[in-house]
Amino acid sequence: MTEWIWLNGDILPLGDAKISVEDRGFQFADGVYEVIRFYDGKLFTAPEHLARLKRSAEGIKIPPPLESTHLETEIEKLLGASGLQDGMIYLQLTRGVAPRDHVYGSMPPTLLFYARELPPVPEPGAGPGVKLISVEDQRWQRCWIKSIALLPNILAKNEVVAQGADEAVFIENGLVTECSTSNIFALLGPRLITHPVGPKVLPGITRELVLEIAPTLGLIVEERGLGLDELRQADEIFITSTTREIAWAARWNDHPIRTGRCGPITEKLQQAYRDKVRAATGSALTTA
Ligand SMILES: Cc1ncc(COP(=O)(O)O)c(C=O)c1O
Repeated sequence: MTEWIWLNGDILPLGDAKISVEDRGFQFADGVYEVIRFYDGKLFTAPEHLARLKRSAEGIKIPPPLESTHLETEIEKLLGASGLQDGMIYLQLTRGVAPRDHVYGSMPPTLLFYARELPPVPEPGAGPGVKLISVEDQRWQRCWIKSIALLPNILAKNEVVAQGADEAVFIENGLVTECSTSNIFALLGPRLITHPVGPKVLPGITRELVLEIAPTLGLIVEERGLGLDELRQADEIFITSTTREIAWAARWNDHPIRTGRCGPITEKLQQAYRDKVRAATGSALTTA
């Protein structure tokens, strides 16, 4: 099945898309990106993702080429052309093409996005649980920008995958910040704890939804850094991202987390999250 891409206003087969070797995204990782989920052919939380894209672009001084509602319409066109039902939109915005120079002038940005199918996530409470390994956080101080410069994340992720884990958990000054491709939460009794967004944590769209749901389940939200000792004592740990939704953690370094099964509160959060997806997209949600 042909995969389609929207590139600077044109929709064409992904394999035919061409970008200059002097695109600053290629030479300097000078750009930002977004990943937006769609269910049953309908975008989920697109305005929130596009608002974050705008903040990321402003954070590195790239003028967004399209206004958010126009961009959403263009993404819907591409999604229609793709014929896909369940998957993600990968969107990338770079500063554009110019002779290689660290100093940037003004130039038309490069904007592209394409749709890709994703396998269904496990039913609430099901699945094998993710294995986490902690690594030192060596990233920059502007992690609120969803930058395409992801080398520290990539190196950390590959280091832990080589050890049989799924996600790297970044630790800075003894505190848990976030993971290489997700946000992280711990439950200690009725308290749900996650690091505040900002220099070291991306404002995850899934994270935000979890924080909205939590009080409706009687949880007390605390946005602060988690100490390693606290994490060892946590009743439940889970990670969140657009593609994984809410994924329960089974292992933390060499230790199983409590029972080694999905905790009851994580399962309730997963159910409530899926209710939001159903309400917003009308999807019946196929699950693994
Ligand atoms: C470093 C990092 N933190 C958090 C997230 C989760 O963000 P979202 O829920 O918006 O997908 C991601 C997702 O890619 C990420 O790369």
